[in-house]
Amino acid sequence: AARAEQVRHGTVPVQAAKATGERLTILYGSQTGQAKRLATQLSTRAEAAGLAVRLVRADSYPQRDLAKETHLAVVISTQGDAEPPDDARGLVEFILGKRAPKLPGLQYTVLGLGDSSYPQFCAIGRQLDARFAELGASRFAPLGEADVDIDAVAAPWAEHALDQAKKVLGATQPVARVANLQPVPSRVAYTREHPFAASVLDNQAIVARDAGRDIRHVELSLEGSGLSYEPGDAIGVWPENPPALVDQWLTLLKLDGEQPVHHDGRELPLRRWLSHERELTRLSRPLIAAVADASGDEKLAGLLRPDRSASLAALLAEDQPIDLWRRHPAEWAADELVAVLRPQTPRLYSIASSQKAVGDEVHLTVAVVDYEAYGERHWGAASSFIAAAGDDHRVPVFIEENERFRLPKDSARDVIMIGPGTGVAPFRAFVQERRETGAGGRNWLFFGNRHFTRDFLYQIEWQAALRDGSLDRLDLAFSRDGDAKVYVQQRIREQGRDLYAWLQEGAHIYVCGDANFMAKDVHAALLDVAVTHGGLSQEHAREWLSDLLQQGRYARDVY
Ligand code: 2AM
Repeated sequence: AARAEQVRHGTVPVQAAKATGERLTILYGSQTGQAKRLATQLSTRAEAAGLAVRLVRADSYPQRDLAKETHLAVVISTQGDAEPPDDARGLVEFILGKRAPKLPGLQYTVLGLGDSSYPQFCAIGRQLDARFAELGASRFAPLGEADVDIDAVAAPWAEHALDQAKKVLGATQPVARVANLQPVPSRVAYTREHPFAASVLDNQAIVARDAGRDIRHVELSLEGSGLSYEPGDAIGVWPENPPALVDQWLTLLKLDGEQPVHHDGRELPLRRWLSHERELTRLSRPLIAAVADASGDEKLAGLLRPDRSASLAALLAEDQPIDLWRRHPAEWAADELVAVLRPQTPRLYSIASSQKAVGDEVHLTVAVVDYEAYGERHWGAASSFIAAAGDDHRVPVFIEENERFRLPKDSARDVIMIGPGTGVAPFRAFVQERRETGAGGRNWLFFGNRHFTRDFLYQIEWQAALRDGSLDRLDLAFSRDGDAKVYVQQRIREQGRDLYAWLQEGAHIYVCGDANFMAKDVHAALLDVAVTHGGLSQEHAREWLSDLLQQGRYARDVY
């Protein structure tokens, strides 16, 4: 069959068939590790079924191979509003761009991961799916669009993709013995699906009382879990919704929390569904559609039209589900409510400690979401859960690897860290790690927050680090101390000459924090620095920065 394929298309050289041929290539682009997890699962299962498989991260994939592929499965997430994950930027640009080759010999399928609380849900997955078709390829399984309750869509997608792949590819390798693929773990491994119940060692506010908000330093114990992490990794937290929020729902809908509700083959009291099993603090498109439907409100339904995406984005960003229910009253039965709300999902926090410094502990920096709107109190699910954590309640956690956000392998390299607000968390881990390992490279931190006196997070530690040499430079931007706002990107421009020199000498640069504004503004500032201090044209500056991204020397952990 491999020969026949080559003859038909006439363009596939014989050697290339060895590299690609009758094989399923699984490509993934992943920001938080979910796409990687799913791609790896698919790969393991396809191999077990006897298929020849090649699993590749998008930034390790040679673009010239694309024209030679015959069977391709792509698993890719969308960041924020229609951005590809950093590891797939180059490839996505290539496929969507003018230089992409025609792909008449390709059969493909795409699984997009996204979050329907953004208006452009699964945009990258959708664009790739449409673009492959435009380039002449044909789908062997339809596009999957997974929302934050990923597995609801990903599992059937994988099932179907695998079935189809088996049909179109056939087994070309002896079926591997299952025993080889599933080594029996020597002890329980804690994972996303099976989290570890961590006890709380410390939980303290690290902003002044008059800061107007609550940011906490939290220390959890991983003792006995067997869990380990690297600086740059995140910790996943399965929250319980605030009891007061569950009460708001029960009161509003005049429902009895004790009544049993049967859903998805399980029966639990309504209160338990709402506190443990359902997403109550993030709005999504399907919820808006359901509320519009139940209340018969056409204006609300109209927000889902493509031309209203700006208004939809505003609603998704500002309101929580309960606001919608309050504004559009309707009769809701308990089982309808449970069916329409999304399953709870874990929240990820960048880890703020190095295990070399803290052993069995894991530290987090948490901004507590708790505010008033429309005359009612609102909470963030995970942050208020963690803020309320104490001796008597444990926090279900797992480790989420972030292999794109790593200190340089060569410890003599310099690092530049940009982390305003709680974005500073992973840099506390970086500096601890570099101190513990005696790394030779220099360390430069840009930090920003509202007020020097109220929310200079970990001030004492940074000052100690400057003294003991584990931090070489610290540039600060306090936005609300003076008449004009000062942000980290202003400091980056001011220090542009040195910053560019560090990068020319091989420094790695890291950005953590807000994706929507800060990371974009910092990106623009870095371009300016290359133009001003490197003498690059705008276009060369853009290439230079995207090369740094591709090489992994410019890494972002933004959300
Ligand atoms: P602001 O809230 O006073 O506007 C952490 O939240 C810090 O990041 C705050 O000082 C905040 O300032 C600042 N910040 C807000 N928008 C930003 C942006 N686009 N770029 C960089 N920093 C920003």
